[in-house]
Amino acid sequence: MVLAIFAGVALMVPAICAQETVYINGTGLDGATRQLALDRTPALYTGNFGDCLGGQSLLNVTRFDVGLYYDNSTFLLHLDGTTNIRREDVILYISLNMYGDSTFNMTVNPCSSDANINSLCPLNASQPITAFASFTVNQQQVSDIPESAWEIPDLEGFARIQIFANSSETEIGCFQAVLENGHTFSQVRALSPVLGIFAAIAIVASFMTAAYGVSIPHMRAHYAHSLSVLVVFETYHSIFYSGALSLNWPSVLPAWWSNFAWAAGLVPVPAVVQSVDPFVGVSGNASQAGGAGSTVLNNNGGLAQQIYGRSIVSVFAGGLWKRFSGVAGDVANSLPKRQAYNPSDPYDYNWDGSPVKPGMPLPGTWIGFAGELSQLNIPAPSAFTIGLIWLLVVIGLVIVVIVAFKFFLEGLVKVRLVKKHRFEFFRANWTRYLSLAIQRTLLIAFFSIMTLSMYQFSSHGAAGPTAIAAIVFVVFIIGIVGLALYAVQCRLHSGKFASGSDRILLQRGKLWGRIPWVVPMRASQLGEKELGEKPAASLPFVRWHFVDDDPSRANVHRDESYIRRFGWLSARYRLSRWWFFAFWLGYQFVRACFLGAATGNPLAQVFGLFVVDILALVIIAALKPFEGQRNTAIAVWLLGLAKIAVTGLSIAFLPDFNLDRLGATVIGLVIIIIQALLTVALFILIVLGAFSTWLSLSRNRENFSPSRLEGVRVRYYEHIEKRAAGTLPLPKPMSQSTPSTEPKRESTEQFPELPRQSHFSVNSIRRISKIGEEDEDDIAEIQPAPCRTTSPMRRPDRTTSVSSQRSISSLPRAARGHRASWSSRDFTQFPTDMERASPALKRRLSGGPQGLRPTNAVGLLQGDTSMSNLSSVAGVSSLPGSRPMTPTKEVVMEENEEDNMESEEKRKGKEQIFEPKLMPESQPRSHWESADDRPKSHDSGTTKGQGAEPSTGETRDEISPIHQSANEKQLTAESGGA
Ligand SMILES: *[C@@H]1O[C@H](CO)[C@@H](O)[C@H](O)[C@H]1NC(C)=O
Ligand SMILES: *[C@@H]1O[C@H](CO)[C@@H](O)[C@H](O)[C@H]1NC(C)=O
Ligand SMILES: *[C@@H]1O[C@H](CO)[C@@H](O)[C@H](O)[C@H]1NC(C)=O
Repeated sequence: MVLAIFAGVALMVPAICAQETVYINGTGLDGATRQLALDRTPALYTGNFGDCLGGQSLLNVTRFDVGLYYDNSTFLLHLDGTTNIRREDVILYISLNMYGDSTFNMTVNPCSSDANINSLCPLNASQPITAFASFTVNQQQVSDIPESAWEIPDLEGFARIQIFANSSETEIGCFQAVLENGHTFSQVRALSPVLGIFAAIAIVASFMTAAYGVSIPHMRAHYAHSLSVLVVFETYHSIFYSGALSLNWPSVLPAWWSNFAWAAGLVPVPAVVQSVDPFVGVSGNASQAGGAGSTVLNNNGGLAQQIYGRSIVSVFAGGLWKRFSGVAGDVANSLPKRQAYNPSDPYDYNWDGSPVKPGMPLPGTWIGFAGELSQLNIPAPSAFTIGLIWLLVVIGLVIVVIVAFKFFLEGLVKVRLVKKHRFEFFRANWTRYLSLAIQRTLLIAFFSIMTLSMYQFSSHGAAGPTAIAAIVFVVFIIGIVGLALYAVQCRLHSGKFASGSDRILLQRGKLWGRIPWVVPMRASQLGEKELGEKPAASLPFVRWHFVDDDPSRANVHRDESYIRRFGWLSARYRLSRWWFFAFWLGYQFVRACFLGAATGNPLAQVFGLFVVDILALVIIAALKPFEGQRNTAIAVWLLGLAKIAVTGLSIAFLPDFNLDRLGATVIGLVIIIIQALLTVALFILIVLGAFSTWLSLSRNRENFSPSRLEGVRVRYYEHIEKRAAGTLPLPKPMSQSTPSTEPKRESTEQFPELPRQSHFSVNSIRRISKIGEEDEDDIAEIQPAPCRTTSPMRRPDRTTSVSSQRSISSLPRAARGHRASWSSRDFTQFPTDMERASPALKRRLSGGPQGLRPTNAVGLLQGDTSMSNLSSVAGVSSLPGSRPMTPTKEVVMEENEEDNMESEEKRKGKEQIFEPKLMPESQPRSHWESADDRPKSHDSGTTKGQGAEPSTGETRDEISPIHQSANEKQLTAESGGA
């Protein structure tokens, strides 16, 4: 439509230059007289039209346009076509129907003087119909048209012309065209690109977090905090496929949803749609509506339905066209071909519609998925094939883009625009990235393809596409679902589930600080200290947990070989919820079943989906699967609530409720508002996600340009680190709020508040520690043999740039956690390199499995903390791993903070029983707390040299603050000199 207007405008430009616009004077229905351009678009006009006798009309119509000009009180009728009735007097009955009411009607005798339609007076097989008439209307005639009809977007209505034969008083033709007023929510050319750009931002951000870095656990931790592309597309899909319910939609909704169709692979490119028509069994003449046969009918004895010689049309469009053109020659009159818009004819116009394509519902109705698809000009039987074609195109694009990116990087490295080690991990493993990107794309398409293929089955389409749908269905089930189950099994096969006793405590609380509320909590997740008051009641409960056979096995977010193979499924989820992808797939499959397969039973479909969505929200909210807060906000809360609201409101469209069309439109507008808000929220989260990705990608940088954001950045790293270790954001003190009723709904950018205390002197001591060396020793002892692969990333020369030293030394808290990936720093940075390295650094920073170090030894000791049974381990503080991690000097500080820490640790320790957390938390936290004070506490000039971790080979215990500062100075001198 918009394209047509664009093309029209493009065509008109020279014409307008050549020929003046003709103006006329007109008096409007409101009584005002204005000067009007002759070729303007009427206030109400018709678009595509179809045969409302279901192809039984005794006319072939190539053009049916109706326009109602408000500004010069004119009703315009244009009807072109042919008939096979030899001769018949007819009466035309024209009506406009809006929101289910007939608001305007007119009976026209073609032979009357004001109509004067010669070609219909009488209807004659030997003469093509070319009716082009305008009638003056008065205020009285249009009084039934609601005021809003002239303005409301996507007016729901149609214009209909019925042709009655005088002799038999039967209806011999009926054509119906969708009514428009020029306003619409379907802004495919404007909105879809915007949606696409935001999705592209999310894709780039997500890919960069996945590709940037060298230490897999780090990369995973940062990747988990970028906004999930899967969630972005799940949002788009959920909006688009709300229209797959078999309901009678108000016109506003399919128009709005059409903006999201591309995300489901339904890109309405006319050439593609047409080319699949023969394959999916959509055949017929797209250039006309109606069903006049080729034999001329002698209607002496009246018109009897049985004798109508209708052509049996079941051949492909091409053959049909041939046949048609041959026959048309026989019938002495040639069907007036639809004329192209002629801009030099001042009376021509270009707002007209076309005959509706075969396989499409009647214009002016939007029933079910077919109705939604008709807005896109896609016949329902083609939906699956088109979706599949675009999926293949997208996979091709993914391949091309990743290969191009890889060779682009290689090219930059060759011409030395980029350091050799930038994106080294990606460049070395790009084939793996490619295959994971394809798998991820298929995962994103899973819901859409499942819905479309089941829709194909349930609509009993042609054999060819149905067979392909069956194959694709099976491939997706075996491929994606099988892979997901395999991924779960891979982790769980060496272990078993065990049960233990637990209690559910019912705690009195206040909802939003006001309404009394009872909060259920599991005893295993609470420390007694945290319960401000005694629980109101408690219930016995069973707790299931997974016991790994190998307690020293790395947890799922540290297990590099697992992340390499299945990180694309599990990486974004919390440590204890890494298996969430399996649940998600099941949920999406059930949704797809309701949307795609249950089309025959709207009642079951709508209520089933409603229940499924509610259950899903409850379960997902309880699981809190995502590690990143933005993902939680959109995927759990916003999307879950929006789905429930939309499905719930859709219940009103069920035929049983007999909702009038105006009411349906109001509900439709509410749905649009909900989904628009969801989309805007998604946009905001994408932007915030891009910002956090930017922070993630600067994790190895020493300088961070807006220094105001330094605090944000450091807090973000801490947050990531903590979340990676499996802890939830710190709950607010119990007395103030009831955490479990308002789970992480905090502002998406808000990171858990850390108690702010200045322990400057302690802080500096803290950073001295030689965690690295000691850890390595510890790790060497405790690290189990790598599961399947050894890290290819242990590349000594990665550490050879001075900037790495700087980065490590300048970001005490963050760098410690992230140093292992320093070397793949953004390639646009540091065009010149200083290839000097301290051998000690080299050794220590060689990345690999020690990623996320401060917590690493503990993590390794704890093995698979996600599910392993740690209940035998009394508390964190007694974990053998935690003490060695803590530098000797830090004890002082911890004593200072004993009060805070003690309860904290106790609670954590308890928590660990159920959902083990890596506990060095207390230690890094205390370290972090004062990190914000760091710049103040040090001479700003030497900031660069301050080391979070010393670079010498001395053991931690030997280091004194003095040593440390000496080392720092040395480092500073080195880096400065470089
Ligand atoms: C329209 O009306 C204006 C004055 O209101 C007059 O000048 C003009 O000639 C009229 N145009 C036509 C086509 O009648
Ligand atoms: C009103 O405007 C239309 C379109 O410009 C034109 O075709 C029609 O003749 C006009 N009617 C009158 C009464 O002038
Ligand atoms: C109407 O269209 C059908 C199918 O295209 C064709 O076979 C028939 O001859 C046409 N009838 C007339 C009167 O043009």
